[in-house]
Amino acid sequence: MAEQIETLLKTSTVYRPTEKTLSEAYIKDYETAYKESIADPEKFWDGIAKELEWFSPWNQVLEWKYPWAKWFLGGKCNISYNCLDRHVNSWRKNKVAVIWVGEKGEERIFTYAELSRQVNRCANALKSIGLKKGDVVTIYLPKIPEQIIAMLACARIGVIHSVIYSGFSAPALESRIKDANAKMIITADCGYDRGKSIDLKKVVDEAVSKSPSIEKMVVVRREKPGNTLKENEIDWEEWMEGQSTNCEAEQLDSETPLYFLYTSGTTGKPKGVVHVHGGYMVGTYITTKYIFDLKDEDVYFCVADPGWVTGHSYIVYGPLLNGATVLTAEGKPDYPNPGRWWDLISKYGVSIFYTTPTAIRLLMKYGEDWPGKYDLSSLRVLGSVGEPINPEAWEWFHRVTGGDKPIMDTWWQTETGSILVSPLPCVPLKPGSATRPFLGIEADVVDKEGNSIGTGGGFAVIKKPWPSMMRTIHKDPDRYLGYWNNIPNCYTAGDVCHKDEDGYFWFMGRADDVVKVAGNRIGTAEVESALVSHDAVVEAAVIGKPHKTAGEMIKAFVILKQGQTESSELIKNLKAHVQTELGKIAVPREIDIVTSLPKTRSGKIMRRVLKAKELGQDPGDISTLEE
Ligand code: WTA
Repeated sequence: MAEQIETLLKTSTVYRPTEKTLSEAYIKDYETAYKESIADPEKFWDGIAKELEWFSPWNQVLEWKYPWAKWFLGGKCNISYNCLDRHVNSWRKNKVAVIWVGEKGEERIFTYAELSRQVNRCANALKSIGLKKGDVVTIYLPKIPEQIIAMLACARIGVIHSVIYSGFSAPALESRIKDANAKMIITADCGYDRGKSIDLKKVVDEAVSKSPSIEKMVVVRREKPGNTLKENEIDWEEWMEGQSTNCEAEQLDSETPLYFLYTSGTTGKPKGVVHVHGGYMVGTYITTKYIFDLKDEDVYFCVADPGWVTGHSYIVYGPLLNGATVLTAEGKPDYPNPGRWWDLISKYGVSIFYTTPTAIRLLMKYGEDWPGKYDLSSLRVLGSVGEPINPEAWEWFHRVTGGDKPIMDTWWQTETGSILVSPLPCVPLKPGSATRPFLGIEADVVDKEGNSIGTGGGFAVIKKPWPSMMRTIHKDPDRYLGYWNNIPNCYTAGDVCHKDEDGYFWFMGRADDVVKVAGNRIGTAEVESALVSHDAVVEAAVIGKPHKTAGEMIKAFVILKQGQTESSELIKNLKAHVQTELGKIAVPREIDIVTSLPKTRSGKIMRRVLKAKELGQDPGDISTLEE
């Protein structure tokens, strides 16, 4: 397979750090820092962990029983304490922690002290309805501050949060509630999307009516007058009212689960990735600090939604662990106009801006006049995440922001918890490359047998455990083992990657049946099963196909039941059906009606063959093809 991976890399321009960037940076010499860190990774991580506060110290840094890892054994900590109390007990007490801007232009600002009061009240409110350590709370909220407050409140008392992106539909929400066995759900009456109000409560009502584990629902009511609530449904304001602003953080064993986050894989069932307090705290803390070169004076803007892992690690936990000022904004980059984000950068003096290739490509379409209208001189460090960034988009982003700010192309996954391959500001950049492994991380590109490739194409792997790695897949340890059993002695990420002569990593996309649509991770099997659940469909196969803005788009091939005929009406119905089953992000852009699908003799659909045909490429080895 590795030999078949084509890499058509052009030699690219190298951007060296400016003197200003270098003089400011925490790490000025990557090569030395990296060599030192991997000479003794446990020593490295031990030193980093000591920068945070622990109720009692660990007596062992790592226990590694392949492939099960435990970090900071015997240590007691609480990530919420480190995000809040550590700062409230310092000069940062009245520093701004979170600036939130709503789609309608509303602004809410929380200092560390105020955020802490809200989180403490929410933690007490959770306790008041009987929640305790180990219970699971589902958070299904639009991008509003209550999302952050609820996450930190759960963490404070050892309750596990399971945040579900509010674009998921009722059946998708229901299956995630059931898998987690959540006792309560926190939601809102509505979210806003390009000025339109989206009825979230209706989605939750439908999901909860089929989820007997849910005992209580709390609703943030954004619209006045708010909708009427049923028994077991509580208004957020009333729930919080009268709660004390003091709730001692639970002293938790470092391996205590912090959250489940559902992500897509190669089967129809989403996997509940499990992260824990101690190691995740250490990984998100140090990557945010070193990669974005985060200082106290910075204003840090990450465009993700806390419904995805980037929001967990790089809106909430990483920045707050560092005592940063975080800007977060509801809504799309081009609503009400394509100046939206540039305007926010200029208005709040953003110095660190972490965004996505899809958003950059979207903004590129509107032209350079838009960023040109705003004062972007506060920017210092830029970031990109979620999918490979094409050199054209990289160059554009670099140019419109002044031509001298380093872009951190950060590669990582829900499973890895924090960034694993990325430049630091001192590293020379090549547009389109995530460059080199983070300190303490032994990443490599290998063939199927696990042999290092040197230079060339192969599979991205990690060769040693790291603190923020997932601990398991909730209720499915076998699926966890799959990541470590695929290639001997390695964690297999599922990404195809090329390593160049300078040891730079060029991630090229997924090696499995996962599609990245606008950076959102979607399993082809999930879309297939949604299509097959439609009355008119017998069989479906789904592939990812390159798309100019979204990176990839979903294309479906569908076989109809006998008696069904193809029509544009039917195609529309099929799309609507996928939207109802999974949500808007999973709807195929193209659906072809076909009479057969390429399969192996054992009946497995060969999506690879469909994809090659669609793209006019050589399908490779098709000796197992039946039809
Ligand atoms: C892809 C998102 C290239 C990759 C943080 C990975 C990237 C998957 C990059 C994880 C990048 C993420 N360059 N590809 N900088 N960042 N990916 O779990 O395929 O939503 O395996 O985590 O996104 O997606 P997930």
